[in-house]
Amino acid sequence: MDFQFTEEQIQIRDAAKDFAENEIAPSSVERDVTCEFPTDIIAKLGELGFMGMMVSPEWGGAGLDTVSYVLAMEEISKVDASVGVIMSVNNSLVCFGLEKWGTPEQKEKYLKPLAMGQKLGAFCLSEPEAGSDATNQKTVAEKDGDYYILNGMKNWITNGTKADYYLIQVQTDKSKGYKGITTFIVEKTLEGFEIGKKEDKLGIRSSDTCSIGLNNVRVHKDNILGEEGLGFRIAMETLNGGRIGIASQALGIASASLEAAIKYSKERKAFDKPISELQAIQFKLADMAVNVETARLLILQAALKKDAHEKYAKEAAQAKLYASRVAVNNALEAIQIHGGYGYVREYLVERYLRDAKITEIYEGTSEIQKIVIARELLKD
Ligand code: CAA
Repeated sequence: MDFQFTEEQIQIRDAAKDFAENEIAPSSVERDVTCEFPTDIIAKLGELGFMGMMVSPEWGGAGLDTVSYVLAMEEISKVDASVGVIMSVNNSLVCFGLEKWGTPEQKEKYLKPLAMGQKLGAFCLSEPEAGSDATNQKTVAEKDGDYYILNGMKNWITNGTKADYYLIQVQTDKSKGYKGITTFIVEKTLEGFEIGKKEDKLGIRSSDTCSIGLNNVRVHKDNILGEEGLGFRIAMETLNGGRIGIASQALGIASASLEAAIKYSKERKAFDKPISELQAIQFKLADMAVNVETARLLILQAALKKDAHEKYAKEAAQAKLYASRVAVNNALEAIQIHGGYGYVREYLVERYLRDAKITEIYEGTSEIQKIVIARELLKD
């Protein structure tokens, strides 16, 4: 593995850091309280090319590699993990699939505005009874001439109330099990497309999560992504890339926790000296730093494999499993180092813990990542 970043990758990382510190940070504490969606920030990220980072310029994207993407995701999430997930879903879960499986017409109509940040995308796989058990899809579509009539319910949809275009996994042929699942590109303006209540969440509170109801929604056959029956494969391959994005989001939180802990430990005095001089604190900081660096290496390994067009499902799952664990651990340790101050909103570390927890749950729980890793290990 070669971790010598190119000049372009460094420029992208620095631009993301600069944007995060100057444009995102000033409103992030307030948005965590009010749960306000960062509409203006997302629009600016779009103008800068951060909403379609890996999409080819032909389709409105920035044409960058996955390494640049993970560097940017870390910097943005370090300041605000809510903005990180909005960006990650648009890039990894929506633009990726449209570019890989879309027709030229679909790319022109849907991918271009999504990649340019003019429109926002959402990915709908989970259902009330299909989370980890993602093959158990109850949302159905019945063919009616050139149209399909979609009925069902999707849950936990990131960007749910704000998106314009949704990639929705639907059972088109129950007799075929997961091989009868199809992905549809659905516009929110269609009749029968119902946006559910916005969830009141523990963390990533300024991102937007809701359920989506489909009540006899008529979708033209031209809006099938790939082909009928390809939906589960599209979802799984899409999630492999998504997991690299979420791992980077987790790394951002872990790294922010470490920085906050270092800063506070130098400022706070106990027993007549800064607590950074106490070995108990130093040991914690050392462990947190190793956590961050190890997570970064796992993420870069997965990103490099993806960029080299090699298989990367296992590496992506490893990166997400480890980085999400590290995000929670580092946030907990940062709180411990801050003592009582870590438990109140005045300092950011309590938010880091609330934001970190979801990275162990969405885009495949840690338990699912272990299944993916073990299955790859046990393959002949
Ligand atoms: N990459 C590529 N293909 C994969 C895959 C992966 N990571 N995981 C499974 N598959 C393929 C299998 O190879 C198999 O295909 P073939 O029969 O053609 O070989 C097919 O998918 C079915 O797999 P299994 O037989 O292993 O099915 P299973 O039901 O036993 O297990 C699972 C599948 C791995 C548990 C899968 O259901 C899974 O990943 N579940 C978690 C779903 C998930 O991540 N949900 C997140 C929701 S999205 C979200 O959070 C978005 C958001 O808004 C932030």
